[in-house]
Amino acid sequence: MIIKTMQALVLFLTSALICAAPAARAVEAPDGPLLVSADMRSGLDLSGPWHYSIDPYRSGLAGFHGEPPDAGQQRWRDVDVRKAMADDNRVLYEFDLAHSPVATLPSSWLTEAPELRHYQGLIWYQRTFIKAPATHKGERQFLRLGAANYKTVVYVNGELAGRHEGGFTPFAFDVTKLLHRDAGRDNQITVGVDSQATPTNVPPPVTDWENYGGLTRPVRLISTPETYVDDAWVRLGRDGRLMVDAHLDGAQAAHNPIRLRIAELGLDLAGTTDAQGKWHASIDAPRTLARWSPESPKLYDVVIDAGEDRWRDRIGFRTIEVRGADILLNGKPVFLRGISLHEEEIGPNPTRDITPEAARALLGEVKSGLHGNFVRLAHYPHSEVMTRMADQMGLLVWSEVPVYWMVAWSNPDTLAAARRMLAENILRDRNRASIAIWSVANETPLSEARNTFLRTLVSDVRGLDDTRLVSAALLVERDSKASVPTMTMTDPLADVLDVIAVNTYNGWYTPDRLADLPGSVWHLPADKPLVFSEFGADAKAGFKDERAAPRKFSEQYQADYYRKTLEMADKVPTLRGLSPWILKDFRSPRRQNPDFQQGWNRKGLISETGQRKQAFKVLAEDYAKRQAAER
Ligand code: GCU
Repeated sequence: MIIKTMQALVLFLTSALICAAPAARAVEAPDGPLLVSADMRSGLDLSGPWHYSIDPYRSGLAGFHGEPPDAGQQRWRDVDVRKAMADDNRVLYEFDLAHSPVATLPSSWLTEAPELRHYQGLIWYQRTFIKAPATHKGERQFLRLGAANYKTVVYVNGELAGRHEGGFTPFAFDVTKLLHRDAGRDNQITVGVDSQATPTNVPPPVTDWENYGGLTRPVRLISTPETYVDDAWVRLGRDGRLMVDAHLDGAQAAHNPIRLRIAELGLDLAGTTDAQGKWHASIDAPRTLARWSPESPKLYDVVIDAGEDRWRDRIGFRTIEVRGADILLNGKPVFLRGISLHEEEIGPNPTRDITPEAARALLGEVKSGLHGNFVRLAHYPHSEVMTRMADQMGLLVWSEVPVYWMVAWSNPDTLAAARRMLAENILRDRNRASIAIWSVANETPLSEARNTFLRTLVSDVRGLDDTRLVSAALLVERDSKASVPTMTMTDPLADVLDVIAVNTYNGWYTPDRLADLPGSVWHLPADKPLVFSEFGADAKAGFKDERAAPRKFSEQYQADYYRKTLEMADKVPTLRGLSPWILKDFRSPRRQNPDFQQGWNRKGLISETGQRKQAFKVLAEDYAKRQAAER
């Protein structure tokens, strides 16, 4: 019992230590620098070989009574372990990252070595790098991590740079004062990533996807002038005016001249930041502005100059809104021909490393294969590579945070974590034309605490971005006494959403005959657009059953399920979009049928290696018809 208590104490302290989150407070913006559009800034890419070392008992964070770790356990120390121990036989180190195994980052450790395939816990990564000579007087250096799942602590040259909680959004630390000044000298970075899911995490431990621990997106060292553009948001308002909000950080941030230019439009807007370093301006959109749409994904080079800094991005301008039960893109009704995606590249052994090639392969299946114009990037913020690719290829995006299933609704730290994640996601991507919908939750059980939690998130979205729509994937109540499948939306959250989204699995998780699905009855709000955000059935690619009533897990059953569910969906008068579950088979520890699943959720329309199943063609034909009808 003592040991159990000790471990619980260590785990508790560890969580506190690795991410000493500030007390829950109104989260408008994350802590620390934003570096919005950092992927457009030049920098030192630290992808490649990193040493790694596991630390399942988190001894690098706390000693065995929960006290701070002693030197012999401090993985981040800037020390040559072999030399120190050879020189003095009183010295003891029980780690030596410089001589530990090497992983190639970014990637999840699950695919690094057989013994790590199911590892969930703390791993330390370390590498050295040489900082390029300063190019600006007073130059600042930021370490930006695209994402690290789930709790992270970063040290540079043995000094704490910062901590972060959340597995799917970027974060940056100003490391200017931590780097060695003398040019050419090695700098050491040590990153502790702890994937352990706890009941107060976002998401909680029980989900339906693989928990890919690790440094899953690039780590870059970015230099800026002393005063730089930390945040900028340039967009087309529903009033037809181009708007810009920018925020400088640095000693010269206040009352600083600032200038927005879009050369292709001949747009040149100058101004001065206020006492807080902020600038808001707007101008009638030039008549020559070509609006972004899936059919014509026009992007403009946008530049903001302030002092010595030049901020750049490639931005599409469009409007998205709801009017009654219609979703309007650039003022015209649009039907969202979509599919859901997890963040997994196509291939037999995904490691959640989304390169431009991987993103193009996935989105190409949607755009060209399915004739789609929409993707639900489930169930967490995907890589910025994916949302930029959606901008370029012309796909509307549903972006969401992993407020999924049984969240600790009454825990203030859980709410703070969810709010911070939501803000980090929106602030990273609100220049992305492709993003149309921010979603705050998926299939969450009803309760007053849950309603309050989610209403707070909806209000945060509205505060951070009034140009997009808010939704959440909801569940409905089924009338078990009705003679036909009869569903009713009773979720009070629907009142504060722009788009009603429903996940439905009648005919897969229920004993319904597929033939009965088209006769289903749906009681939904009549004045809001509906998206079926999920429906799906498993099929093992290549498993065929030619019988008139094919069995579950056959391609035929999945194809029949799609035919009947699409027929059902088409009868719902407020239906304005579909994002069936899911494009590609994905890893899920919940799915262990040895004949068909083997740890994979098989609801994909393509297998993990990209093999198309019969249902792919069923959906593609449906979308081709819808697309033709729009022309
Ligand atoms: C749920 C859930 C998904 C899950 C899917 C399934 O709706 O939102 O994350 O994978 O159903 O059961 O396959």
